[in-house]
Formats: sequence, C-alpha cells, structure tokens
Amino acid sequence: PQAPVDVKLSINGEMYRVGLDVRTTLLDALRDHIGLTGSKKGCDHGQCGACTVLVDGRRTLACLTLAVAAQGREVTTVEGLARADGPLHPMQQAFVDHDAFQCGYCTPGQIMSAIGCVKEGHAGNDDAIREYMSGNLCRCAAYPNIVAAVRQAKLQMEG
Ligand code: FES
Ligand code: FES
Repeated sequence: PQAPVDVKLSINGEMYRVGLDVRTTLLDALRDHIGLTGSKKGCDHGQCGACTVLVDGRRTLACLTLAVAAQGREVTTVEGLARADGPLHPMQQAFVDHDAFQCGYCTPGQIMSAIGCVKEGHAGNDDAIREYMSGNLCRCAAYPNIVAAVRQAKLQMEG
C-alpha cells in the first residue's frame, strides 16, 4: 500500500487535515475520514448526483473528484448550509415546504445541486429547472415537488 499523503481541506469554513491514500475521492474523504456523512454515495460513478457538493461555489460530483484536487478550494457540503441553532437555508426550507423528498437519500445532493442551479441562472422556469437538475436522480420520483421547491427557493435567494 502507498504511504498516506497529508491533505488539507477547507470544508464549510473549517480546515481539516487528514492522511489519505492519494487515490481517495473527496466523497470518501468527507464520509469516511472526516465524518461528514451528509453527502451520499449512490453510484460512485458520476451518474446519480447524490454526492453533489459545491467546490468554490460550483456544483461538483464528490465521487469523481480526488480529495487532493480539492485542496486550496472551499468545499461546501449540506452540513454547511445552516447552523444547528439557526434557520434553514432557503433551499432546505423549500424542500420541507414542498415535501420534495420521500426516502431522502438523494436529498442532500438535490439541495446542493439546486443551489448551484439557481446561482448559475439556470432556474428561470420549470423546464430549465428540470433540464439543469437532470443530473440528480431520485428513485422515489419526487421530481414535481423538487421543481416546485427550487422555484420557491429561487425567489427567496434572489429576493
Ligand atoms: Fe457521485 Fe452517484 S455517487 S454521482
Ligand atoms: Fe428517495 Fe429521492 S427521495 S431517492
């Protein structure tokens, strides 16, 4: 086995230092080494979106990103959206308001992707939301409610 490399990651505004095999993905670093299990592993192959996080504000599939490549960047996971004692992020609140989940497994990825979608300016109407959220699969098919949630949160994030 290869000797671990010393990796420094800035996640949700905090610095973490971990020794990792150089091939470790950002997703495995988050979940297995840092203990932030909000980001989910669905496929581990870039096909489901469950692992979506923001890297320097851009939505990124953590299962396809090496942890070492995320050094020097700011990673935001679902845990970083709201403080334990504070209000939810508007996107989180909108998912609650619209029942935009059933089992919830896809939800952290949906929420992070939806925030990216709004910030990119790709949430102008329902067709655009469906198109630009199409990388996030939901086996429970909560899609109509997800679209409604993104529509509501967009108004609040921009208003
Ligand atoms: Fe990353 Fe499915 S776990 S896209
Ligand atoms: Fe179950 Fe989306 S809520 S997979």
